Amino acid sequence: MAKIQGVYKIIANQKLSSKFFKLSIEAKSFRGKIQPGQFVHVKINDRLDPFFRRPFCIHRVKRNLEILYEVVGRGTEELSQKKKSEHLNILGPLGNGFTLPSRNIQQVVMIAGGIGVAPFLALTDILRKRKIRLVLLYGGRTKEYVFNMKAFKDNGCQIFISTDDGSYGVKGRVSGLFKKIRLDKSTYFYACGPKPMIKTVQEFSKENNIEGQASLEEIMACGVGTCLGCSIKTRQGYKTVCHDGPVFDLKDIVFEK
Ligand SMILES: Cc1cc2nc3c(=O)[nH]c(=O)nc-3n(C[C@H](O)[C@H](O)[C@H](O)COP(=O)(O)OP(=O)(O)OC[C@H]3O[C@@H](n4cnc5c(N)ncnc54)[C@H](O)[C@@H]3O)c2cc1C
Ligand code: FES
Repeated sequence: MAKIQGVYKIIANQKLSSKFFKLSIEAKSFRGKIQPGQFVHVKINDRLDPFFRRPFCIHRVKRNLEILYEVVGRGTEELSQKKKSEHLNILGPLGNGFTLPSRNIQQVVMIAGGIGVAPFLALTDILRKRKIRLVLLYGGRTKEYVFNMKAFKDNGCQIFISTDDGSYGVKGRVSGLFKKIRLDKSTYFYACGPKPMIKTVQEFSKENNIEGQASLEEIMACGVGTCLGCSIKTRQGYKTVCHDGPVFDLKDIVFEK
């Protein structure tokens, strides 16, 4: 779908946990036209501050366009105050999105750190139609980062949860959940979360000879590949997260110190 900029009505802005919100926007033009893993660039208000749009993965597009977000700063704080029937200026869909695994894959393991879980619901909306095992490994800092994952369960996901402080699920990082999965050649990984987590997944996938993709986050300005502000190093040279990504083959990402 070509990227479009439009002003769309907010249908709901729901608090899911003390950290996470779900924004539902009436955006008929997105229905059936996005690839899971793509994102939208949201203008928080009509003023000049904050000046730059804020990028958010597309959580799901069913009746409405859904964004799952964490309040981390002034933009997301202002977003959390938005009410039903207010409007938002949105540019998207942007970026490349996830490539679906080949037909001989029997198990897909999604590894999410915190709000990195956001793009995976749209992915499971597609993968649920294949008769394969879907596993979500979710790591949050504390129980405040755990929210109702019914939509993932309804899509047939087996879910394992860890928290850094052990206040919910297994204590420790999400990588501590790797031992919960039965690995074989027909397994495929998708990862989204902080860079150290992606690096751990990359190492684990290399050790176990498992292919996969990761969705990366970088601070963005233009969001469309012109300012080069979101460039990262890959085995094919420097690439922009907003235009060439945000999804990259796991083995192509080069982590710089
Ligand atoms: C492709 C992409 C998809 C994303 N999808 C989601 C999503 O689905 N849900 C969600 O909650 N967040 C998502 N993010 C992160 C989100 O864009 C930032 O949290 C948001 O822009 C912060 O805005 P703010 O004004 O609230 O924070 P600011 O006041 O601008 O910053 C507050 C803190 O957040 C950090 N930050 C700011 N921008 C980013 C960024 N782009 N990535 C990582 N950290 C950032 C800053 O370094 C600072 O520590 C995504 C980012 C990218 C690049
Ligand atoms: S944000 Fe400008 S090139 Fe990516």
